[in-house]
Parts: sequence; C-alpha cells; structure tokens
Amino acid sequence: MARKKIALIGGGQIGGVLAQLCALRELGDVVLFDIVEGLPQGKCLDIAEAAPVDGFDISLKGTGKYEDIAGADVVIVTAGLPRKPGMSRSDLIEVNSKIMTQVAEGIRQYASGAFVVVISNPLDAMVTLCQKITGIPYNRIVGQSGVLDSARFAAFIAWELGISVRDVSAITLGGHGDDMVPLVRYSCVNGIPVMELLERKYGNAAKAKEVMDAMVKRTRGAGGEVVALLKTGSAFYSPASASLAMVESVLKDQKRVLPACVHLDGEFGVKGYFLGVPAVLGAGGVEKIIEFRLNAEEQAMLDKSVAAVKGLVDSLQ
Ligand code: APR
Repeated sequence: MARKKIALIGGGQIGGVLAQLCALRELGDVVLFDIVEGLPQGKCLDIAEAAPVDGFDISLKGTGKYEDIAGADVVIVTAGLPRKPGMSRSDLIEVNSKIMTQVAEGIRQYASGAFVVVISNPLDAMVTLCQKITGIPYNRIVGQSGVLDSARFAAFIAWELGISVRDVSAITLGGHGDDMVPLVRYSCVNGIPVMELLERKYGNAAKAKEVMDAMVKRTRGAGGEVVALLKTGSAFYSPASASLAMVESVLKDQKRVLPACVHLDGEFGVKGYFLGVPAVLGAGGVEKIIEFRLNAEEQAMLDKSVAAVKGLVDSLQ
C-alpha cells in the first residue's frame, strides 16, 4: 500500500510538532510548507535525521512551493499568527484572513481532493473562509477545536479527582472562543457522572458545583492561560496532538466520535455555519454529525456561542 501524503501548511510551532508526530506515528510522508525560506527545509531535515534513532520510515520534505502539496491525502493548516498575551482569538481575524486567503488558493489549486483540517485562529472563521475559497465539500473540511477543548476539560477533571485521564470522557461544544460550552452533564468517569464523584469527594453539592464551575472557566480560558505563560506564542503541543487524532481517524477509517468544527445544515438548530459538535470521522471524512438532546441551560449556552461565531464569521463579508 502506498504511503499517505500529509501536507502541513505553516511550519511554525504547531507545524513542526505535527511533522514530528506524523513521523513518529508513521502516518504518512510529510510535506511541510512555509513562506519563510529555509524554515520548513531545516525542520524537516532535523526530524529526518532522527529517523535512525526513532526508527520511522517516512519521508519529510520542507518547501516554499505549493506544487509540492499536489495529491495530498490530508492537509493541515496552521499558517497564521498566534495570539500575544491579552489578545483574544478573534483579534487575529484581519491578519489571518489575508494569510488564509493565500493558503486556501494554494490548496484549491493543488490539493482540492484532500481532507483538510484547519487549526489557524480564529478557528471558526478561518475554516469557513478556507472552505469558501477552496470549495472543498463540507464532509472533507473540518476545524480543530473541540478535541483540544475537550482534552483540556478532561485533564482538569482527572487532576481534580486524582485519576487516570484515560477514564475521563468530557465534551465541549460550540465555537473555539470564550463562549465554548463544556458539557458538565455529559462528562463522566467510566460512565459515572463527574458531578456525583465531586459531590462525594466534597460531601456537599454546593462545593462540588463551585469546583466544577472553576474547571469550566479554566477550560474556556485554557488557551489564554498558556499564552500568558509563554508570552511569545500560543499552545502548540496540544493543538498538534488534537488535530492528529482527527487525521488518524480519517486515514485509518477509525470512525471515532470526535468533537469537530463542521458545517451544520440545521443540526443543533444551526444552518449554514461551521460549529463544534460531535462527528464521526472516517474514510469518508465527516461521515455523520451526532445530535443529542441539550437541556434549556445547555442550549442557552450553545446559542450564546453560536451568536459569537456568527458575529465573527459575518464580519468576514
Ligand atoms: N503562508 C504559509 N505560511 C505562513 C503564511 C502564509 N501566507 N504566513 C505566515 N505563515 C507561517 C509563518 O511563517 C509561521 O512559520 O505560519 C507559521 C505560524 O507559526 P507560528 O507563528 O509558530 O504559530 P503556531 O503556534 O504554529 O500557530 C499557528 O494556529 O492555533 C493557531 O492561533 C494559532 O493562528 C495560529 C496558528
């Protein structure tokens, strides 16, 4: 079987980690594209020279030419500026729209048959713009937001309860902004509701709610927490891992149910916008959007997040 081809557009912090993870997991041959001369070539050479140590058999090519992404099975876009301390993701819209316009044109020309994952922020607007320019069918283009937001929520729950992250299931819906919706009612530890475990730990419901509220708040601001610490950029290890979970599910037809920023056509009451909801990702790309019941409080939070996404996306016009 021929190896898969994975094109990474943007060879910065996330792009570099993506290239290394693709190599270590032997997901496919990597093409790393960047406009900075020498950067993608240098990173690819560096990673490739670790192959004899790590034992992976894939090729890595750094490039500044879009023709090198031709025929890619998967394209992951990280081109764009990251946040600086104090900035929100939406502050990046003007500068990153210009970058995304160029990138999408390159994808349209050379890799329009690929499955595309957008990571650049503000995510919900960038994936919308990328789809508009490339014309890639809605089942072949997603944004990465929910896998990471949910992973952060799950990590905080595991740390709070002192248990393995592997047994925590947590999901976050909505836009990749401060109004995202971590779903407390659906978060559990091997099926046991997290709230029940917190109530048992603290012996009262009020304290359990206070602890959960703090974890929800931290989840919403988790990207900003990393930005404030790094000062010179935003999170890059976790976004790379999160997007590769989506890519792996598609390349290996795993049909995992992952929160993805997908185009909605009436699901969850949203029509014509990309939004983070659970989806089945497999060889067919976005094979299914999973709908489920929200209570009034959850729906109100989702509506608020949708309004924020619409405001941002509509400002692109
Ligand atoms: N075409 C291709 N690459 C570009 C372009 C362009 N027009 N403009 C900038 N780039 C490249 C930069 O040269 C840089 O190497 O995009 C890369 C971005 O890398 P970083 O600045 O290190 O940012 P990173 O941390 O990887 O984040 C990238 O993902 O999570 C989001 O908010 C984050 O929007 C940001 C993006």
